[in-house]
Amino acid sequence: MPRPPTAPADGARTGDPIRARAQVVSNVAEGAANHRIELRVDSWPAWQPGQFVMLAPGAESAAPRHDPLLPRPMAIYSTETKGEFDQVTILYKVEGRGTTLLAAAQPGEHVRMVGPLGQGFELQPEGHRAILVGGGTGTASLYALAREALARGPVSVILGARRADLVMAERDFEKLGVDLVIATEDGSRGTKGLVTDVLGPRLADSDEAKIVYACGPTPMMRACHALTAEAGVPCRVALENRMACGFGACLGCAVPMAEGGFTLVCNRGPVYDADTLAWEGIP
Ligand SMILES: Cc1cc2nc3c(=O)[nH]c(=O)nc-3n(C[C@H](O)[C@H](O)[C@H](O)COP(=O)(O)OP(=O)(O)OC[C@H]3O[C@@H](n4cnc5c(N)ncnc54)[C@H](O)[C@@H]3O)c2cc1C
Ligand code: FES
Repeated sequence: MPRPPTAPADGARTGDPIRARAQVVSNVAEGAANHRIELRVDSWPAWQPGQFVMLAPGAESAAPRHDPLLPRPMAIYSTETKGEFDQVTILYKVEGRGTTLLAAAQPGEHVRMVGPLGQGFELQPEGHRAILVGGGTGTASLYALAREALARGPVSVILGARRADLVMAERDFEKLGVDLVIATEDGSRGTKGLVTDVLGPRLADSDEAKIVYACGPTPMMRACHALTAEAGVPCRVALENRMACGFGACLGCAVPMAEGGFTLVCNRGPVYDADTLAWEGIP
């Protein structure tokens, strides 16, 4: 039975994070470097779209515990109750050593995971259209949001990638019945160009109240913020910068705030009002 993250995703408190030794149910490639891993845990806490887990780089015993040492942050894509267990699904792209080891994890093996972590998205205000903009792996942070936001009002989703086989989760979004546009840089799927080429005209195309939620590479989110600021549309972003500990101890994820000072993305984020960030200082 599909399990909603938590009800409602509007800033309500989520469950405390747990440390889990999750069993791999399946781990399959979906297109070029994109993979989907389903992980079984005894019980998964309530969570909000936009929250993440720190996932071990690979199954236990796949590599020495110190190499690679650190877990990798991954958005919670969805959760489901299956009999007496909960199943957590993560969508990931193979980037480097950690995700290469993860892609080799076999059903029945175990992967360590801590979560849910960070602060998630608040749903769109009543009467607003939610426009979700996902670039590359940022798409994974937006699926649960799309599902919840649909219960509140109209939802448009713009997904982008460099080329067709890197677009994540297109079929899942189609099944939700959202207004969906795909953009690829080489034109091999959907509109040729960047997600922001699609977003710009959408912001101006009617007087309907709107809010934008964006997740993807920093230049994409920076551009989304610039467009929304110009159009006077609120914008929330989920940052995807590098993390080490995931719970506020190492200061490795600090980014500058518009008002001065820094914020720890793993703790206060990854979701922010885009106006509150000092974009020129974010790598
Ligand atoms: C909150 C959050 C949620 C995320 N959710 C997802 C997700 O759902 N699915 C997914 O595939 N990825 C997600 N990421 C990115 C993911 O954590 C990195 O791709 C992963 O850590 C790479 O690990 P690796 O060992 O394979 O690569 P490494 O060997 O560590 O690095 C390989 C290459 O990837 C780049 N890289 C490493 N970390 C990041 C990063 N955070 N963002 C962009 N480039 C990076 C490095 O610069 C390097 O070029 C998320 C990141 C954050 C912070
Ligand atoms: S990752 Fe360590 S403080 Fe955020």
